[in-house]
Amino acid sequence: MLIDKNSPLPIYHQIEEYIKDRIEKGELKPGNVLPSEREYSQLFQVSRMTIRQAINKLVNDGYLYRKKGSGTFVAEKKFEQALQGLTSFTEDMKARGLTPSSKLLHFEIIPASPQVAATLQVAENTPVYEMKRIRLADEIPMALETCYISANLVKGLTEEIVSHSIYKYIEEKLQLDIGEATQIIESSLANETETELLKIKKGSPILLIERCTFLTNGTPFEIVRSSYRADRYKFISHLKR
Ligand code: GLP
Repeated sequence: MLIDKNSPLPIYHQIEEYIKDRIEKGELKPGNVLPSEREYSQLFQVSRMTIRQAINKLVNDGYLYRKKGSGTFVAEKKFEQALQGLTSFTEDMKARGLTPSSKLLHFEIIPASPQVAATLQVAENTPVYEMKRIRLADEIPMALETCYISANLVKGLTEEIVSHSIYKYIEEKLQLDIGEATQIIESSLANETETELLKIKKGSPILLIERCTFLTNGTPFEIVRSSYRADRYKFISHLKR
């Protein structure tokens, strides 16, 4: 009844779907330990190899994770982040019913380096804000962001403002229109700083996102390098032909 041995769908795939279904229905909750391979193999009357195949797939897809010596556990659900639409972290979290917050680690006005100046289309040594923030949702660290913002364009930033939403300040207080951004996404493994600040294990998967954002008049105003937890995020895009 749980699996159909005559189905053209491979058995391991049916088991995978069964476990996923239990997670989606909330019968298996994040942090719950999964029944052992032996228990599942008795339940489904299939070999432990088949069970392992299903579980390996679910571990790779981020539904489950293994803890050495303790077993296999249900992972926290990943956030689905749309790749179209230029939104801020604050907006993204609020849209999910979560409370966004930031922990400001660094905030300073510095002379633009040649690289930052070229991207922000300002002269070298022009003042730019340099800041580092941990972005949290319901107090859980989600991403680490290092940001360079043109100080001559986005005037009056303070530690207080950047501890909340920068985009809100730009649009509501400065009345500047944010237009578009280019974004590059790469995969990486957490380094020591990311491990410590994001409270994840060393070598956990990370999504590195570099965004350059422009006002509607085409002027670039920010460069942001973010490290997002790949165990909590997946990116979705809609493709049309
Ligand atoms: C996201 C983007 C950043 C942007 C930030 C603004 O995190 N990846 O590039 O700077 O949103 O967020 P907020 O307005 O909450 O400060």
